[in-house]
Amino acid sequence: MSSSSAATVGVKESSTEKRGLWSSRLAFVLAATGSAVGLGNIWKFPYITGENGGGAFVIVYLLCIAGIGIPIMMAEVLIGRRGGHSPINSMRLAAQREQLSKGWTIVGAVGVLAAFLILSFYSVIGGWAISYVGTAATGGLVGQSEEAIGAIFSGLLGDPATLLLWHTVFMALVIVVVARGVKAGLERAVTFLMPALFVLLLIVVGYAMTTGSFGRAVSFLFAPDFSSLTTAGVLVALGHAFFTLSLGMAVMMAYGSYLPKNVSIAKTAVTVSIIDTVVALTAGLAIFPIVFANGLEPGAGPGLIFQTLPLAFGNMPMGSLVGTLFFVLLIFAAWTSGISLLEPLVEWLEEQKGLNRTVSAVGAGIACWALGIVSILSLNVWSDVTPLGMFAMFEGKTIFDLLDFLTASILLPLGGLLVAVFAGWFMSRQALESELATSPGAFKLWYNTLRYFTPVAVAAVFVYNLL
Ligand code: PHE
Repeated sequence: MSSSSAATVGVKESSTEKRGLWSSRLAFVLAATGSAVGLGNIWKFPYITGENGGGAFVIVYLLCIAGIGIPIMMAEVLIGRRGGHSPINSMRLAAQREQLSKGWTIVGAVGVLAAFLILSFYSVIGGWAISYVGTAATGGLVGQSEEAIGAIFSGLLGDPATLLLWHTVFMALVIVVVARGVKAGLERAVTFLMPALFVLLLIVVGYAMTTGSFGRAVSFLFAPDFSSLTTAGVLVALGHAFFTLSLGMAVMMAYGSYLPKNVSIAKTAVTVSIIDTVVALTAGLAIFPIVFANGLEPGAGPGLIFQTLPLAFGNMPMGSLVGTLFFVLLIFAAWTSGISLLEPLVEWLEEQKGLNRTVSAVGAGIACWALGIVSILSLNVWSDVTPLGMFAMFEGKTIFDLLDFLTASILLPLGGLLVAVFAGWFMSRQALESELATSPGAFKLWYNTLRYFTPVAVAAVFVYNLL
């Protein structure tokens, strides 16, 4: 069955064997964690939490992870493993097996497009982190006032040439790894560097406890005030659940295609989601005490961590060392995520267009790099350009903001919704059961959540926001 369907879609049958599999469940957990844990947890989660008023936003976000993110992650990994090809072709195979329309391929395509768009600005932010390694290592943060730290950040944003340099370096790092094949090096990097990043985050939390504002930060993060949450905030929380778990853009499908058959998809998805959530909440605990202790604005936006963490590094013992290490590890976290963003497109170019891996990685990477220049310019030269500003919803949104909105708030939830509907309503129950191989109770819970709760919740948030 699988050979005939593979042949009809024009996918070389031998490719499944040639692709190789992750060496173990642990290897997959590491790679998926490497994709999930990144700038989303440490850079984005704190600043959107600050912008959306704290506790109530965090609760909605946690509900989205549990009720929407985890079921969809399981579905994506399942489709990827069953298909055994690049996301677009895995979707095509899955649809064909159920004798459904080829139109379902669109799910993979939306994902590949979203990943491409995200990487273009993700790399720019990764570049910020690279720039801060230099600042921290040369003692540039020591004893600096809050104003001076703010000036360092606005100086960076106002300097397109420097931004371009670090964006280029970041993208080159991503291209090199993807060109050489994802597995080599990735497993090892995640095994050592992720725990190291977490330890440094805990050191910052330790410092944050000495600022006298720890209690205030804890209640900001965990005591919900629902009056501060808007419907737009709910959409941001939903979109971020997808972003932070790397969902809705075929990444987990691409990684799932390398997963050995005997590994439990459910356990794996839950493990990855828990690690990801713990890292995000820890980042919040590290950052908000510093925000409050220094009278900074929680809703300061995308610069939040770059205006708060340097204050901590500038004031703690051995801060230059801790700060340097922190930003180096942040780059690694962003790197392993960036790799996973380029992978689906490269996998598809290889498989469908018959290009070799190096050519695909370099070509796709350069295209993405070029698009990133638009984001760089929108931070300075074009900071007043708001292309959709005539619509109330997009007022004041720069091109950078729009790219973020289009991907995180539209494309990812849409991709996720389609995955949930496809797996929940169109794939045969028997196929899902045999692929998941969990207890009947766990299967039912997942199946019903995916069929009813997940699509309805995502659609409701969408509709509510658009009306
Ligand atoms: N999950 C990553 C993060 O939180 C970002 C990412 C999104 C990576 C989508 C891959 C795919 O930083």
